[in-house]
Amino acid sequence: MVYTRKNVSTLTSAERRRFVTAMLEVKRRGEYDEFVRRHIDYYVSDGEGGLRAAHMAPSFLPWHRCFLLDLENALRRVDSGVSVPYWDWTRDRTPASAPWTNDLLGGDGRRSDRQVMTGPFAYAQGQWTIKEGVTDGAFLMREFGRPRKPIQLPTLASLNAALSDPVYDTAPFDSTTRRGFRNRLEGWGHGVGNATWENHNRVHRWVGGHMLGGASVNDPVFWLHHAFVDLQWSRWQMLHRGAPYLPERPPGPGDSQHRRIVARREKMPPWGVTPESMEDHSLIYRYA
Ligand code: CU
Ligand code: CU
Repeated sequence: MVYTRKNVSTLTSAERRRFVTAMLEVKRRGEYDEFVRRHIDYYVSDGEGGLRAAHMAPSFLPWHRCFLLDLENALRRVDSGVSVPYWDWTRDRTPASAPWTNDLLGGDGRRSDRQVMTGPFAYAQGQWTIKEGVTDGAFLMREFGRPRKPIQLPTLASLNAALSDPVYDTAPFDSTTRRGFRNRLEGWGHGVGNATWENHNRVHRWVGGHMLGGASVNDPVFWLHHAFVDLQWSRWQMLHRGAPYLPERPPGPGDSQHRRIVARREKMPPWGVTPESMEDHSLIYRYA
């Protein structure tokens, strides 16, 4: 049965409670930290050798689509009525809005150590201890808007600029790629300072704390953010009449991206599915 992912601002209080309960149970079972570890393991950048499946690469979108489905399946083994809601950061733009309420994700970190003190994921609640991190702390951290060097959430205009690009991705298919929907959405920008971060990346920067690096999955907002990013891929396909994932074929031996990116019909690790097979989610879930 096709299920629905909803805008987090429209969830009823019962839906919010069920989502939180399922997240805490997946964490209690030890499954959640496997997701954190997997994301850290796939945090490979342009500068490193080897295949980039998850970031700075065309398969950024299908990789995170599979990753979300795995988490969603873990949630649905706990409660089959739960799905991952999405956070529309073009509309819900303040620390007082969804999803930062005390009955959902809690709010900002405190000044002294960025520790989240409110909501079910606060360390003192005893159900959300950080175990897989790139730093030591056991508590969840956030720093909304980075007060020391302020950054704003991406605007609707910048999201629409990404959506208007008719080509999925272009050479060299990495973080330096200037055209193409994928990097304009992933958001490796080309300016200086805050202009380095667009759309998807800028949201990670705005939330701050754990959302800044490879261990970003420790913040449950990771999933709500990536559900909204995933929704943009569907919107883009509709706007551009089913335009395909690119590249269609793997770069040849003389190409700097040879064996470093996943082409449309190549298998994407760790699932072994092709980007092509992930282009249509309509038989699994839909967005409301
Ligand atoms: Cu990621
Ligand atoms: Cu991300």
